[in-house]
Amino acid sequence: MRVEPQKSTLPRSVLFVCLGNICRSPLAEGVFREVLVTRGMERNFLLDSAGTGGWHAGSAPDPRSIEIAARHGIDISGQKARKVSREDFARFDLIFGMDRSNVADLKAIAPEAAQGRIQLFLEFAGDPSREVPDPYYGGPEGFASVYRMIREASEAIATRLDGRVAASESGHASSTM
Ligand code: 4NP
Repeated sequence: MRVEPQKSTLPRSVLFVCLGNICRSPLAEGVFREVLVTRGMERNFLLDSAGTGGWHAGSAPDPRSIEIAARHGIDISGQKARKVSREDFARFDLIFGMDRSNVADLKAIAPEAAQGRIQLFLEFAGDPSREVPDPYYGGPEGFASVYRMIREASEAIATRLDGRVAASESGHASSTM
């Protein structure tokens, strides 16, 4: 008898959300993709980013985010800002808010079934006491600090999700999420 592989319930699609979708979430999308590529995990994931506000829809990321990403060998210049849509709550397995107000705004518009998929980015990475602060009105040092927070969190989350992949592929249930 042929045994079909079980359908995976692993998070494979991840949406990064901030307020404007020009500073933090495009950077998080780019950095997380780079971390997955480095680990050979990218084929398992669909990544995107969006903003709870639509003021910058259609715009490229903020030049300061493009610059800090480029300094680390990551090109995010081709991304385009967009506003979160209702369909996102059905399409994405994990929806990360960069700060607590992003999470609250997402939960306020998400259907009941999607509430558990909305997570504070740094909390999911293991650091519940911090948020990724909005760097828009600050200087370039704010972007460098945001980059470091996003990089560390992306490494931690990739490790966490990699454990889930390994557990699933070996047939063991995982309790990491
Ligand atoms: P982001 O930063 O939420 O990280 O993209 C912001 C970008 C734009 C504005 C606020 C925050 N804004 O007020 O236009």
